[in-house]
Amino acid sequence: MPKTLTRILIAVSFLVGIAAGIPLSGSHGPRQPLPRRTIAGVSVVDTPLVRAAQQYMRDHSNQPVYKHIMRSWLFGTLMVNNNATLAALVDPEVQAVSLLLHDLGFDQSPDSPITSTDRRFEVDGAIAARHFIRDHRDGRRWEERRVQLVWDAIALHTEQSYARYKEPDVAAVSTGIFMDFAGPSNGVTPSQYNTVVAEFPNSDLRQSVQDVFTWICSTKPIVTYGVSHSQQSNTFLQPFGERFVANYSAVGHRTIDFVLGPPQA
Ligand SMILES: *[C@@H]1O[C@H](CO)[C@@H](O)[C@H](O)[C@H]1NC(C)=O
Ligand SMILES: *[C@@H]1O[C@H](CO)[C@@H](O)[C@H](O)[C@H]1NC(C)=O
Repeated sequence: MPKTLTRILIAVSFLVGIAAGIPLSGSHGPRQPLPRRTIAGVSVVDTPLVRAAQQYMRDHSNQPVYKHIMRSWLFGTLMVNNNATLAALVDPEVQAVSLLLHDLGFDQSPDSPITSTDRRFEVDGAIAARHFIRDHRDGRRWEERRVQLVWDAIALHTEQSYARYKEPDVAAVSTGIFMDFAGPSNGVTPSQYNTVVAEFPNSDLRQSVQDVFTWICSTKPIVTYGVSHSQQSNTFLQPFGERFVANYSAVGHRTIDFVLGPPQA
């Protein structure tokens, strides 16, 4: 091929790449800015894959879970948007897809292709998210490492004792989700938090999580053992083991209840 033609072709594919919002480097090099839109005052990435993840989540969530996921997505995104150091480390599309798909394992529909009888709901979600990405036109081209980060972020999202020592992408997903239970932290202001809660009210969060955990305990009790220690919200996941599993409570464990982040004025 003549040299000039080759150069033109390279230039054209480069420009097409930019126009399509395709990141031109790996997940840890400098990134092209991705398209964005604003939800509840939060600037979120807006790629076809993220849109599709949001729709897929919507199709597999009831209304309270949908709102919990939207809040988690927005809190996690705010945490990164507010922190330039973190923003340079976190792959925004990986984070968005992970947050949007983190509770796929809550899908209670009969014959759900997602929920198993023998795996933790987090693992059901991680597996489903991997399939979702690989089935998508754009996700098919993701390098394996990005898919693995999504898998890890979802599988470990309730286990801050692991997640906080993993990649920043994984840690930030877990923290974003826990903020929905623990209130604003990590640079998210009470005012930003309350704007999100006003758009996606959280009054049904406690009951809906209790309902879904009860459903998990009754449909696959074997996966409910284990305790999750979270620095931020050490009252949240213990109910899963302690409230619903007969006599999980050992000497020294506190009586617990769900604690919602108090929306602060
Ligand atoms: C910003 O993120 C970095 C990296 O995670 C962290 O060390 C730092 O404490 C964060 N800053 C604030 C203000 O939260
Ligand atoms: C739980 O423990 C208490 C006190 O040890 C005992 O009385 C009770 O029968 C136990 N309940 C079950 C369901 O095992």
